Amino acid sequence: MSASAQPSPWVALGPGHSYKNMMTKHVLLIIGGGIAAYKSLFLIRELSRRGISSQVILTKGGSQFVTALSAGALTNKPVFTDLWELDETGDMGHIELSRSADLIVVAPATANLLARAAQGVASDLASTTLLATDKRVLYAPAMNVRMWEAAATQRNVQTLIDDGALFVGPDAGDMACGEFGEGRMAEPEAIADAVEAALMGDTSLDALREPKPLAGQSALVTAGPTREPLDPVRYLSNHSSGKQGYAIAQALADLGAEVTLVSGPTALPAPLGVTRVVVETAEEMLAACEDALPANVFVSVAAVADWRPATRTDKKTKKPKDGPAPLELVENPDILKTICAHKKRPELVIGFAAETHDVVKLARAKRLRKTCDWIVANDVSGDVMGGDANAMILVKEDGEESWPRMDKRAAARKLAREIAKALK
Ligand code: CTP
Repeated sequence: MSASAQPSPWVALGPGHSYKNMMTKHVLLIIGGGIAAYKSLFLIRELSRRGISSQVILTKGGSQFVTALSAGALTNKPVFTDLWELDETGDMGHIELSRSADLIVVAPATANLLARAAQGVASDLASTTLLATDKRVLYAPAMNVRMWEAAATQRNVQTLIDDGALFVGPDAGDMACGEFGEGRMAEPEAIADAVEAALMGDTSLDALREPKPLAGQSALVTAGPTREPLDPVRYLSNHSSGKQGYAIAQALADLGAEVTLVSGPTALPAPLGVTRVVVETAEEMLAACEDALPANVFVSVAAVADWRPATRTDKKTKKPKDGPAPLELVENPDILKTICAHKKRPELVIGFAAETHDVVKLARAKRLRKTCDWIVANDVSGDVMGGDANAMILVKEDGEESWPRMDKRAAARKLAREIAKALK
């Protein structure tokens, strides 16, 4: 079993100065059409000073204020403005542009860009990239105070926050339009601080405008499959990818919870700002969970193998000459049930029920059998296991709520908000 606190320790050198370990990070910077665009050139310099490289998408509006030549010279990389010109560059596409980035930064984020991003309108390279990305997006809004305060803009900002976006600024002050108020883009140093914090998984900086309803609460999440070895080369396991559990751990951390993720073997990187404990077997998973208590909430997402081989040999088991396969199984501990009966039982315990038929009926029975508070039921007869989407049914004591099929990360954020409401 190995514990890896993610990310590795870093050193704050004071406001506006560099944290360590940024050398390999890369940001895709979308420069929108606002007078603050000139500050984004300073942002490129500031990021590069901190060891963070960037590549620029310049919107049509942005190119009215700064040139592709200056952005390209500062980043040392081609600048893209048009959705269609990418095809000519071979591999490079809007998907590829965001795939190679650790974070997307939109600065200045105009009211128009925010509106299109919130609505999922893909009308140019910038908005298409924002719709197509699975990376975190940090917006640095810049606009006239009345536009910023407009109900529509505030609605869009809230939608983007609900979708997992981060915000830095805007600041209050004198504006280029001659008015005074909130709407001025955050200074490059402050944006760079927020970029570093987001890259390190710290979304709790005051600069990042995201509600933290789970601040001060702790969460324990299990994810992935368990692997039950027979001998040094064989094991019993299942198809769980860990995606849903990892997304829930990330969503809870994003809402301010201190999260321990006990994970079976997966191919996934540790979620940002989450302490991950990697285990292999169900017994190790139970021990790691008990070690992580107390916690305010336990979300049991792992697809724990119900059985393990009765014996585990140090040498590879040889095929018997005749007779049946030598595979005797014993039952694994039920982690969810054990934690429900634990003297340090978290105040909210949530199980998952992966079913292929009679989903709600079986989930209701499972909730009672395991004595957990909620069960999230999902129909795994399709492509849920290993896939990116999930249609969940939240089963509580007083009834069920069906959620539409959505991306696993969106489902995780919805569940995290439900948890935050329940723990309030
Ligand atoms: N679970 C657990 N430990 C186990 C088996 C399951 O903690 N040994 C948890 C899972 O993480 C999930 C819930 O129990 O939250 C239900 O898992 P599931 O596999 O659907 O249920 P089982 O108890 O294994 O029942 P069955 O396989 O008969 O449906």
